[in-house]
Amino acid sequence: MAIVLRISLHFLIFLYVSSISLSLAQDENNFIYNGFHDKANLSLDGIAEIHPNGLLQLTNLSRQEVGRAFYQFPLNFNTTNSSLSFSTNFVFAMVPEVNNLGGHGIAFIISPSRDFSRAQANRFLGLFNISTNGLSTNHVLAIELDTVQDPEFQDIAMNHVGINVNSMKSVASAPAMYSSNKGGENISLDLMSGNPMHLWIDYDEAEKLLNVTLAPTTIPKPNRPLLSTSTDLSQILLESMYVGFSSATGTLASDHYILGWSFNKSGPSQSLDVSRLPPLPRERKRKEKPSHMITIALIAAAFVWITVTGAAYILRRKKYEEIREDWEEEYGPHRFSYKNLHKATKGFKDTELLGEGGFGKVYRGILPSSNLQIAVKRVSHDSKQGMKEFVAEIVSMGRLRHRNLVQLLGYCRRRGELLLVYDYMPNGSLDQFLYSNEQPTLNWVQRFRIIRGVASGLLYLHEEWEQVVLHRDVKASNVLLDAELNGRLGDFGLARLYDRGTNPQTTRVVGTVGYLAPELTRTGRATTCSDVFAFGAFMLEVACGRKPIELQAQGLAEGVILVDWVSECWRRGAILDASDPRLEGNNYVVEEMVLILKLGLLCSHAIPAARPSMKQVMQFLDGDADLQELPHDNASFGASTSNEASDFMSFPFSQAYVPSSSMSSTDSILRVGR
Ligand SMILES: *[C@@H]1O[C@H](CO)[C@@H](O)[C@H](O)[C@H]1NC(C)=O
Ligand SMILES: *[C@@H]1O[C@H](CO)[C@@H](O)[C@H](O)[C@H]1NC(C)=O
Ligand SMILES: *[C@@H]1O[C@H](CO)[C@@H](O)[C@H](O)[C@H]1NC(C)=O
Ligand SMILES: *[C@@H]1O[C@H](CO)[C@@H](O)[C@H](O)[C@H]1NC(C)=O
Ligand SMILES: *[C@@H]1O[C@H](CO)[C@@H](O)[C@H](O)[C@H]1NC(C)=O
Ligand SMILES: *[C@@H]1O[C@H](CO)[C@@H](O)[C@H](O)[C@H]1NC(C)=O
Ligand SMILES: *[C@@H]1O[C@H](CO)[C@@H](O)[C@H](O)[C@H]1NC(C)=O
Ligand SMILES: *[C@@H]1O[C@H](CO)[C@@H](O)[C@H](O)[C@H]1NC(C)=O
Repeated sequence: MAIVLRISLHFLIFLYVSSISLSLAQDENNFIYNGFHDKANLSLDGIAEIHPNGLLQLTNLSRQEVGRAFYQFPLNFNTTNSSLSFSTNFVFAMVPEVNNLGGHGIAFIISPSRDFSRAQANRFLGLFNISTNGLSTNHVLAIELDTVQDPEFQDIAMNHVGINVNSMKSVASAPAMYSSNKGGENISLDLMSGNPMHLWIDYDEAEKLLNVTLAPTTIPKPNRPLLSTSTDLSQILLESMYVGFSSATGTLASDHYILGWSFNKSGPSQSLDVSRLPPLPRERKRKEKPSHMITIALIAAAFVWITVTGAAYILRRKKYEEIREDWEEEYGPHRFSYKNLHKATKGFKDTELLGEGGFGKVYRGILPSSNLQIAVKRVSHDSKQGMKEFVAEIVSMGRLRHRNLVQLLGYCRRRGELLLVYDYMPNGSLDQFLYSNEQPTLNWVQRFRIIRGVASGLLYLHEEWEQVVLHRDVKASNVLLDAELNGRLGDFGLARLYDRGTNPQTTRVVGTVGYLAPELTRTGRATTCSDVFAFGAFMLEVACGRKPIELQAQGLAEGVILVDWVSECWRRGAILDASDPRLEGNNYVVEEMVLILKLGLLCSHAIPAARPSMKQVMQFLDGDADLQELPHDNASFGASTSNEASDFMSFPFSQAYVPSSSMSSTDSILRVGR
């Protein structure tokens, strides 16, 4: 009897259990995962992975990567019976590469497809690419947790939450914060704090209202949502949709995690049980405290070391002293020790001095370990302002690779100065070939190849890399020649160091007189058009063998402005008069010389929109497009001939052209201004 009872009890339990799993299997409209154990019916994509403890990691610190996770079954959003409402909440964490410096973000998405293989990382968060962004055929709803401010998408801040429909440009967004249930005040949150945070997304079909609510995991859901936006999803959602997450890194990276996820199509989603969520990996959760400990330990160790080893060593250490901060740990491979650079350049001896550019002295060196030839630029700089951002930027610039760019190898920091390490260019800078009597002058074939090379390097910076990079100081002295006399652009992006951190309202104009576009001196805003202007001045310089602005031998304000002179030659139908007399016996290809001179004028047009893009410049140089006849009417080339820029000439002349024998016309305003 007892046995029979026990068997039937087992049987009943079995029935009960199997009916539960049956109902779960059939009803895919709601699920809750307090941690993603046993793969949790997610399908992963990109570099996403689930840790053994159930933590879903979408991205790690690898750059330009994407990680996605979808609930593997499609959900039915039936438009005819108005069942578009849904409710979801999840807990996420973003642990940046360096305190407060990470990217790009996480998006919760509803999409008709799980295939995003053609989508891009970085600012596109793995959802779209340049050609698909904004298309109504995407049918993608995304709630983004975005930690990078992209001007291209009119992002409101670095640290924001947005509702995006088919596009990376948000239909509604707000800085990350929540409204306290007690006082009703707004409390800011830092998405990249490294701590877990809770996000709720609720859509009500009847009200057509989409609510997004953010909070720390330590408090219940706030009553007031962060975003409450009327949205009609019936135009966006299709019958069969996937739900999930997409996350991406760019030139900056963060570890992006999802700790738990609850989703419901038939009622409010149950809130996650925070106590049951998997913990984050410990070592990178919070950086400040351990690094404090390390600093203290280091100071203590240094103290002991110093007292033991005495004054001789103190002096020696001082000699090689560097500034190294916690946030630089990540850039380890790009960091050179000062001691090595000191050795490489024989103690920055004058005999090793290669030149003095706009930003500092450049020395030749040979790295003791590898015998690699390098060039070291010493830039004096007060190291507090904007240094973190700048180092992140130069490290990302170290990834720029093009045969017409001088490769940046790394950096080192000391008190009051920054050292930048570049590939060594055995033939020095182009201006020495153009103007110095010591160097043989370059023939036309070489000059044309250099112009074409520099154009292709600049095109790469403007249009072919993952981000638009402005050079901001294109000029002959920034073009270096490698062993085969190929032109390579150097010093890109360096100008930015100087207008960061300073008052944004009074952006200083950075660049070099004679190469500065008229609008740049007015607005202070550098653009690809202002780079093209400088490139135009550069082309004329190479073809004519003259500097963009030359002082007469004894004159003060009587400068010769190259653009004016070339356009004058052109107006009287004798443009070839402008060619460099040192190209002996007019030894050049006439069509090419005419092309370079005219293209130089066109790039120097006073109106930015009238200048060609670098892509077009490249097409003209390659003969893939014909340069139209230049407009003869009231076309104004250069900075001085246009009325709107008439104030320009007085500016550089009065400020930069202080008659001083030590100052060449390629000195930058910056140095004069300081
Ligand atoms: C995954 O889905 C199947 C079918 O719906 C279900 O039987 C199973 O329990 C789910 N697994 C998890 C871990 O949720
Ligand atoms: C990130 O994850 C990918 C795939 O799991 C792995 O290949 C890569 O080494 C990881 N990168 C870092 C920085 O951990
Ligand atoms: C959508 O809802 C309508 C009305 O309830 C129903 O007739 C139709 O079969 C549903 N469609 C799907 C694909 O379930
Ligand atoms: C709408 O139709 C779907 C599919 O037939 C069904 O699952 C859902 O319960 C229906 N919703 C309403 C509100 O009738
Ligand atoms: C963007 O993605 C679409 C499809 O997803 C693809 O056809 C197109 O070639 C991609 N464009 C670029 C520039 O990658
Ligand atoms: C909180 O921010 C919202 C905008 O998101 C604003 O409307 C509201 O007035 C703010 N509340 C307080 C108390 O500052
Ligand atoms: C959205 O927020 C508004 C304003 O707080 C509230 O009235 C509404 O009920 C919320 N809707 C949902 C679906 O949570
Ligand atoms: C979904 O909503 C229904 C009805 O309110 C509720 O019974 C169920 O527990 C919810 N499921 C989840 C996972 O939130």
